Amino acid sequence: MDKNTLITDRLILRPVAARDAEALTALADNYKVAVMLSRLPYPYKIEHARDFISWVNARQDDEGIFGLYLKPGEIFIGVCSYELRGEEEPELGYWLGEPYWGKGYMSEAVKAVVAHAFTVNRHAKLTSGCRLQNHASRRILEKAGFEHVGRYEIDSLVLKAKLPGHRFHLTREHWQGLAA
Ligand SMILES: CC(C)(COP(=O)(O)OP(=O)(O)OC[C@H]1O[C@@H](n2cnc3c(N)ncnc32)[C@H](O)[C@@H]1OP(=O)(O)O)[C@@H](O)C(=O)NCCC(=O)NCCS
Repeated sequence: MDKNTLITDRLILRPVAARDAEALTALADNYKVAVMLSRLPYPYKIEHARDFISWVNARQDDEGIFGLYLKPGEIFIGVCSYELRGEEEPELGYWLGEPYWGKGYMSEAVKAVVAHAFTVNRHAKLTSGCRLQNHASRRILEKAGFEHVGRYEIDSLVLKAKLPGHRFHLTREHWQGLAA
């Protein structure tokens, strides 16, 4: 197993591949998903998926961009990543296809991806954020140990606006303390 593949109770996390383009498009092409994210285009076309897959596979080693797959049948269900995007500290982001919401999958994925960021890539700190009304996302971050550090503005590609959000961070030190 290579360092870019993670296994949890119910999921396989690995880089998205060219064969995932159609499944990715089918789930990403959803306004309810795009409106909670900064950069996901809507409508989401197969070309967006192909560009994303090429981009993921050209990323640096100190980032982690994982497709999430249900173990039986390796069915693609979403994405969870930490990306540097020119910043010193990587930002955690994620989305799940709507049919798979409410089953604890993202909580499971985030725990594994956070551990990857701190243990494999030895990052000192992760940041993340969510729109004010995104209570499920806030809960996921809090369950993973993230601390609320205030409010900020989130860019929205879909709404072409800056929207108010909650900012969170998690230091490796704090995360290690949670596991102890
Ligand atoms: C947000 C999202 C990732 C959640 O994924 P999920 O797998 O359904 O989430 P989980 O089931 O792991 O956990 C959600 C938690 O939030 C809670 N929750 C869900 N809806 C809630 C609400 N309206 N108010 C408060 N808590 C809520 C759940 O009860 C659960 O907490 P629990 O484990 O203590 O019961 C998914 O809905 C999604 O992809 N949405 C669109 C994109 C998005 O918002 N991405 C995040 C951007 S910051």
